[in-house]
Amino acid sequence: MAGKVTDNMMHPSMRLLFEWESISSDEMINLTKKCSHKMIMWLARIHSDNKTRENLLRVLGIKIGKFTTINAGIYIHDRPAEFLEIGERCAIADNVTFITSSHPNMSKLSEIPVIVDRYIEEGKIVIEDDAWIGSRAIIFPNVVVGRGAIVGAGAIVKESLPPHTVSCGQPAKIIRRLPNID
Ligand SMILES: CC(C)(COP(=O)(O)OP(=O)(O)OC[C@H]1O[C@@H](n2cnc3c(N)ncnc32)[C@H](O)[C@@H]1OP(=O)(O)O)[C@@H](O)C(=O)NCCC(=O)NCCS
Repeated sequence: MAGKVTDNMMHPSMRLLFEWESISSDEMINLTKKCSHKMIMWLARIHSDNKTRENLLRVLGIKIGKFTTINAGIYIHDRPAEFLEIGERCAIADNVTFITSSHPNMSKLSEIPVIVDRYIEEGKIVIEDDAWIGSRAIIFPNVVVGRGAIVGAGAIVKESLPPHTVSCGQPAKIIRRLPNID
């Protein structure tokens, strides 16, 4: 029939984006096999459904614990499977950026020794159980956000944060200590 879009005609990414409510988890995994890594990352970033976002991020190899919520707009700079681990019951607000890798791409800056030694870096980011990351926070390489720690909206986190603390600002500093939730 002219003009009718059938399942066969629809790109798998479009089915994941628009038909997620009627797709089983197994079918979802099968559909991702037909999508590039970049496409899956993009879908995970913009998808309207929390569960689907997390399934897509898990397909990329990111370790995400049970009952964790990851809101839309997550951005991960490179090699997410190796460099990002998120624990159980964590809350990641919208538009959080994980700078797992920092490199000026094709810029000639990458030929300058001081840039290579000081500014080009990559490293694993770990968000421990029950941590809560506020909207638009930016987390740098090699940072561990401790268990049950709160990171304020818009924080720039360059150093690891201890468990059961509240931090905010640019760069993030501890402003409060919280009761132990263990
Ligand atoms: C960080 C946060 C938890 C602190 O809450 P709080 O303990 O009630 O802190 P207060 O409002 O008493 O502020 C304490 C100080 O920190 C500053 N501050 C608070 N939040 C800040 C933030 N996000 N960035 C920068 N400074 C912040 C305040 O200006 C205040 O500074 P001062 O002592 O110089 O006056 C909260 O402000 C926040 O950012 N929550 C995240 C909200 C969010 O993103 N939710 C996502 C949707 S789920």
